[in-house]
Amino acid sequence: MGLTDDLLRFDWTGVDAELQKKTEDAFAELRLTEEQIERVQRVFLEEMERGLDKQSESPSSLLMENTFLPELPNGHETGEYLALDLGGTNFRVMYLRIADGKVVEQDFQRFEVDEAHRYGSGEDLFDFLAGCVQSFLREKHPSGRHFELGFTFSFPMIQKSLDVGILQTWTKSFKASGCVGQDVVKMLNEALHRRGDINVDVVAIMNDTTGTLVQGASQDQHCAIGVILGTGSNAAYIERVDRVKKWDHHQNGIKEVVIDVEWGAFGDNGVLDFVRTDVDRAVDDLSLLVNSFTFEKYFSGKYLGEVFRQCMLKAHRDGVLFESVSEKLNTANSCTTKHVSMLEKDTIDGTGHHLEAVMEELQQAHSAADLVVLRYICALITVRAAVLVSACISVLLKRIDRDDCSIAVDGTLFKLHPRLASLMETAIAVLAPKHKFHLFLAEDGSGKGAALVAAVAKRLRNRK
Ligand code: BGC
Repeated sequence: MGLTDDLLRFDWTGVDAELQKKTEDAFAELRLTEEQIERVQRVFLEEMERGLDKQSESPSSLLMENTFLPELPNGHETGEYLALDLGGTNFRVMYLRIADGKVVEQDFQRFEVDEAHRYGSGEDLFDFLAGCVQSFLREKHPSGRHFELGFTFSFPMIQKSLDVGILQTWTKSFKASGCVGQDVVKMLNEALHRRGDINVDVVAIMNDTTGTLVQGASQDQHCAIGVILGTGSNAAYIERVDRVKKWDHHQNGIKEVVIDVEWGAFGDNGVLDFVRTDVDRAVDDLSLLVNSFTFEKYFSGKYLGEVFRQCMLKAHRDGVLFESVSEKLNTANSCTTKHVSMLEKDTIDGTGHHLEAVMEELQQAHSAADLVVLRYICALITVRAAVLVSACISVLLKRIDRDDCSIAVDGTLFKLHPRLASLMETAIAVLAPKHKFHLFLAEDGSGKGAALVAAVAKRLRNRK
């Protein structure tokens, strides 16, 4: 028995042996074998090294971006900051007060970024964001005082310093024009200053994984990895500067730096094709940004529902599920990650309670045997998600190679899926058996982390 089978342990009661075999055969490709898992680990490490290397001949699919953050909070940070969190369709403006390296007070407002802004011009998008900052301040802090702002920008960017971030490509649901190749700190600062009615400066930009790592480190001093399992997925970790070959700046005695892996794009150059299935190709074909973000599309919150839907369609074609498929189910993106989580809850508590609700939502007629097959599909894609993510985390643990290493995780997929966290705990322990680790939820890393990074940026500036 391999890791996948160990995690899966599926109860087929209610289905005859023939249907069981046909279903297992139909989805054999989604059951990662020991060799495949080991190869994912190996390839991930190679891609990491190539991504850090200045002279790599063929580009790595991992950006391995230097965040220019050489240290984490040391417990002495204080002050009041604003933070912005842009990554999903909800955008947040926050006020945070920090004392002794911890967030002790916070207040925030959420704004929806509608399609017109997500798909329109970059200037309009940033004017809209600046307008949200103004409306938050007008309501909550009308004094007109100056604020420093930490900007969590959860997209791949190349940083030139802690306050310069050049957007490489949009992901998830964004496509605004005129931003790729631009410094988004400059765009935001210009939009803020254009208004003339607020006194705010962006002093640091970071990815949400960096924010999560920093927030995690303020809770647990052993934290060296931050992971997001949400709409998108990614990780940041603490790397030794001497291994960041592409960073040829004079490093002033800096020994470590946070690296943003950008694992969402892992495999965009074909190195992961050995785990890619027809289901994954179908998910990609229907996505907003085709042929990119290969790894993320296997499991992250934006895509897992569609992975599930494509699996159901395949199961139907292969004659193991449903007599006919409803119009709703035939519609792209009609299934969400929430549906997968609901069915997983049934698997855990042994009921069919949620299944009925999901089928009703999808207007899908079904038999008792169908329900077992559906649960199997959800279990399988969940286990594949846990194994893929854990394979990468295990590589990071071995690379960091500390006696004790904590992994801060945030994101809706991690928080709302009923057993992803426990599957990952088991998988990581198997895949990095010699490394003691602690996986924990670092809630709101993209908010609190932004203020903490802004505070660390201030410390670094003052030191200069
Ligand atoms: C982005 C990353 C981000 C992740 C989680 C991905 O789509 O490329 O920068 O960290 O989503 O939000």
